[in-house]
Amino acid sequence: MTDSAPRALVTGGAGFIGSHLVDRLLADGRRVCVVDDLSTGSAGNVPSDVRFQRVDVCDLASLGEVFAAFRPDVVFHAAAQTDVRRSTREPDFDARVNVLGGLNVLRAAAAVGARRIVYASSAAVYGDPERLPVSEADPTRPISDYGASKLAFEHYLGAHAARGLIEHAVLRYANVYGPGQRADGEAGVVAIFARQMLAGEPVAIFGDGRKTRDYVYVSDVVEATIRAAAGPSGVVANIGWGREISDLELFRAVAAATGYAKGPTHAADRRGDIARISLDPAVARRTWDWRPSVPLGDGVRRVVEATKAKPELAR
Ligand SMILES: NC(=O)c1ccc[n+]([C@@H]2O[C@H](COP(=O)([O-])OP(=O)(O)OC[C@H]3O[C@@H](n4cnc5c(N)ncnc54)[C@H](O)[C@@H]3O)[C@@H](O)[C@H]2O)c1
Repeated sequence: MTDSAPRALVTGGAGFIGSHLVDRLLADGRRVCVVDDLSTGSAGNVPSDVRFQRVDVCDLASLGEVFAAFRPDVVFHAAAQTDVRRSTREPDFDARVNVLGGLNVLRAAAAVGARRIVYASSAAVYGDPERLPVSEADPTRPISDYGASKLAFEHYLGAHAARGLIEHAVLRYANVYGPGQRADGEAGVVAIFARQMLAGEPVAIFGDGRKTRDYVYVSDVVEATIRAAAGPSGVVANIGWGREISDLELFRAVAAATGYAKGPTHAADRRGDIARISLDPAVARRTWDWRPSVPLGDGVRRVVEATKAKPELAR
């Protein structure tokens, strides 16, 4: 790797999506710096040829020093408080990390002349949509504090970009899944099912099994995120299949991959869960020629294989 290789800084690079992104950036020959406070991420996820800074994005002074020393061209902002339930229990903590922490990243990036921020936003900004698949032009009406904080930071990014301070791209990820995902994150259900089924434990579905989500494999998400670092600025794009998968269908897919023969147990529906979601990826297709490529069955099999190989990762 040469000293003049493009420099990418990844916040949250020790986490699930961030660590897959870091692997890809390294494979592309980038110099990479990871900023992560390890609150949910793991130092073991960070390769040794990466500059790793254990810094909380809420700490502007330390962040400023890291940015000044590394001088990134592109910043991928994936650090976040990602627990939807915690966001409604502790909205102030959620806002501190996702809004104020985001603002710190934005200011630190602009201060050192970084060209662009690529932001890992979420389908949670839509709340309970009126029509599916939901498009970027549809109303954003979050029903969780997490959705509200993720959306708020989209607006801060847009405001800074409008003043010419930095370029930006916003990717609204659907339910991302893949190897290395913890079982307690925003969309850890594939990881939870895989771990429980491999252990032969009972597997609970909340509600009647007809709730739907749009599951997108992590390598597809990384591909879109990399493409968003180039091309036009100011793009806001959904990253999903535009297809709904019900809890019962997901259960069957993981059961097929693990050889699990029992049926699901049913638990009471969790309050605040949206009933259905899928994200129309037309903007990503038009702008970056991006389409998801890993079908659910293949992706689930990869998660199951990874869980068998490293069961301790599926906490
Ligand atoms: N996983 C999904 O399905 C999904 C869906 C939509 C959006 N997203 C977004 O993608 C991003 C990555 O999510 P993930 O699933 O990889 O979650 P994750 O919890 O694995 O990763 C988040 C990372 O951020 C770090 N972090 C948290 N607070 C921090 C702080 N104050 N300072 C520095 N680092 C901090 C954590 O230690 C962790 O490594 C998040 O912004 C999330 O909102 C994820």
